[in-house]
Amino acid sequence: MRLPDYKEARTRDKRSYKRVDFEIDDKVKNKYKGKNFCLKTYGCQMNEHDSENIKALLVYLGFVPVSDYESADLVLLNTCSIRENAHNKAFGMLGRLKHLKSKRRDLLIGLCGCMAQEASVTSEILERYPFVNFVFGTHNIYQLPNILDKAITDNKQQIEVFSREGDLVEGLPVIRTNNYKAYVNIIYGCDKFCTYCIVPYTRGRERSRKKEDILAEVDSLIRDGYKEITLLGQNVNAYGKDLYSDYNLGNLLEDIAQKEILRIRFMTSHPWDFTDHMVEVLGKYSNIMPSVHLPVQSGSNKVLKLMGRRYTRESYLELFNKIKKTVPSVAMSTDIIVGFPGESEDDFLDTLSLVHECKFDNAFTFIFSKREGTPACKLEDNTTDQEKEMRLQRLNEVVNHYFLENNKKLVGKVILVLVEGLSSKKDNMYFGYSDTNKLINFTSSEPVNSGDLVSVKITEAKTWSLDGEIIN
Ligand code: SAH
Ligand code: SF4
Ligand code: F3S
Repeated sequence: MRLPDYKEARTRDKRSYKRVDFEIDDKVKNKYKGKNFCLKTYGCQMNEHDSENIKALLVYLGFVPVSDYESADLVLLNTCSIRENAHNKAFGMLGRLKHLKSKRRDLLIGLCGCMAQEASVTSEILERYPFVNFVFGTHNIYQLPNILDKAITDNKQQIEVFSREGDLVEGLPVIRTNNYKAYVNIIYGCDKFCTYCIVPYTRGRERSRKKEDILAEVDSLIRDGYKEITLLGQNVNAYGKDLYSDYNLGNLLEDIAQKEILRIRFMTSHPWDFTDHMVEVLGKYSNIMPSVHLPVQSGSNKVLKLMGRRYTRESYLELFNKIKKTVPSVAMSTDIIVGFPGESEDDFLDTLSLVHECKFDNAFTFIFSKREGTPACKLEDNTTDQEKEMRLQRLNEVVNHYFLENNKKLVGKVILVLVEGLSSKKDNMYFGYSDTNKLINFTSSEPVNSGDLVSVKITEAKTWSLDGEIIN
């Protein structure tokens, strides 16, 4: 048994980590044939992609995926810690599973992902959730076959959570959710330690994958017919810093853009590591999509400082405008937190004025949520919950206004859409995404296939989507 430890998770040093190839014993192949599993994923794209690896490991062991947890032999929750409501969702699910297990003693229950990295969660599971058979952390995914085996044979709760990340494991099996859009991890972890954020503790230090490994994965995706790849990391702009002196995200994007791949995306970018060279590369290649997610969090310099974001309102705007100038068709999106401890009405107004200036195409807005063990937990907070709710509402009104304004500019235009699937059979409605990552619902009298790139004439703008018709 290995329990998480925040002190260790916080440690960053120059110790190098090894790149190792994943190995699995042939003997466990199909060991659990006949059993099925339900994997529930919460949180960000990183977790979604981890779930694609977890699914492949379970399928190797012989399990068959099902979507209904009530009929599953194994239910595994891949959890998220980012805000309190993510926690509540997972614990709510554990409550339902407890009930199910009281009727089905042989049901196996596992928990993994970011919550597993939190000492308070694992100790609660040890004390109050003895029916959970096993817990493993974000650095322990490759150990899943052993952990599961032990949980079954020893019939004792297993907890395996490394707080200090181990080696960088390459070659984990993967079963991708989509046949033409793929996630490719380029960097794990985060060293930014924004004062409100739990990710640096749950995901460990920044560790870049070798460029050769990434490029080989991209090549194999191209061979398999993938049309779009999204380079993933908590802060993709830090890519390469820990491995190379002269190779960064800009170089990687260039190397990938020169390949035969239709669409390249990347997320998420921290403004701090965004270099002029990266901006240049965005403008240079037509297969790098004109869509940049650049979280600002706040428009107030005082709050940005308290958040430890390492940039000012002015330097954010400078970068924002540089990207807009270099890639005129770009759609910019962001994340914003309201109600951070110490945020006054004036600070909040600074955020609103920044939104008026940037006119974002999309924004994810949140109320600050206290995460145990992070520095922001200790800051004095004298804004009431009601005031925070009001600020979120006021902010949402402004961001929504600009989503619609920006979308209206596209009415009458013809845009390229990568088709995702059918949204309504009755009306021959399909849906897909534009290069700027906008959701497009469109009609077509002829059938179109998922993964096709089609031209759509936009007929109507909505706040979160656009309607249109296919042009043949
Ligand atoms: N690595 C990404 C963000 C990952 S978390 C980045 O830095 O851009 C996604 C978003 O969740 C953050 O951008 C932030 O807006 C929000 N978030 C993170 N911690 C939070 C907290 N404690 N309370 C409220 N929102 C939070
Ligand atoms: Fe969290 Fe900041 Fe790292 Fe993003 S950059 S994951 S907000 S610590
Ligand atoms: Fe949540 Fe972990 Fe992602 S905390 S947002 S699942 S990195």
